Amino acid sequence: MTSSYGLEGRAAVVTGGTRGIGRAVAGALAAAGVLVCVTARDAGEVRRTAAELGGVGLAGSVADPGHPEELADLVLREFGRLDVLVNNAATNLPHGPLMEAGADAWREAFAINVEAPLRLVQCAWRGWMREHGGAVVNVCTEGAGHVGPHVGAYGTTKAALLRLTQQLAGELAPRVRVNSVSPGLVRTELARFVWETAETEVAAALPLGRIGEPEDVARAVVWLVSDAAEWITGADLLVDGGTRVRAARAASGYAVHGRLRAHSPAPSTGRGAV
Ligand SMILES: NC(=O)c1ccc[n+]([C@@H]2O[C@H](COP(=O)([O-])OP(=O)(O)OC[C@H]3O[C@@H](n4cnc5c(N)ncnc54)[C@H](OP(=O)(O)O)[C@@H]3O)[C@@H](O)[C@H]2O)c1
Repeated sequence: MTSSYGLEGRAAVVTGGTRGIGRAVAGALAAAGVLVCVTARDAGEVRRTAAELGGVGLAGSVADPGHPEELADLVLREFGRLDVLVNNAATNLPHGPLMEAGADAWREAFAINVEAPLRLVQCAWRGWMREHGGAVVNVCTEGAGHVGPHVGAYGTTKAALLRLTQQLAGELAPRVRVNSVSPGLVRTELARFVWETAETEVAAALPLGRIGEPEDVARAVVWLVSDAAEWITGADLLVDGGTRVRAARAASGYAVHGRLRAHSPAPSTGRGAV
């Protein structure tokens, strides 16, 4: 159960809000009394989720030209305010050695994972937050803190998103707080190829003894966007079950890296990195 933290009546955008971590964040915000707008590429899923949450939705890629403006306009028209932005949608492609990373896939990764969050913050700032204040959370990854096999593109975009978070936090204070959360391995479709085959092994090496659930991340996001975190900006909150400190207890290698090394997704389906 998530506390409402006094968030009732505020309005939020959650990108990639139809499944996984984004869906849990959108659900937790709605449960806290927040008016929620979700986005994703699958229009049917956007409609279904918006209806479930009693909110609104916009179908499309966050990297589509015009999408950020359209999103801010929709939320301001429907809710009359835009207090919270959760930049959660991401791609984990291209997967593989960087020497094989093509130009288009590389640009697409940065367009979705780094540029879209910036454009969305700009639209939220101009449309509402500059005058009324607000809170932004960017969803990064625990993996951005170190290198791993075949995740060079994803890791580089998420490291850039971490830096973007800090820069925006400095520039937009005191009106707008900008923070990030960095999840470890979480039970979602994106990471299915890891936990489906290696959950027991990964969990055994984690200090907190299990992999993450989307709700673990959602609770952290709700707290960060609430006034309970009013003196926190430019921070990265690890939600990783102790992944970063596991070396104090686990003697063996990291099972996630084993799965990343072994995995070679088809380009069209590609779920490569967490
Ligand atoms: N799961 C993990 O272990 C893990 C670990 C660390 C960090 N993360 C981060 O957590 C965030 C959410 O990941 P997840 O695991 O919850 O993934 P997921 O289960 O695959 O869900 C991704 C969501 O984003 C949407 N989406 C994907 N690309 C999009 C785009 N270009 N524009 C708009 N929406 C898009 C998807 O819907 P459509 O496909 O319909 O667009 C879906 O709603 C990501 O930023 C990811 O990097 C995840």
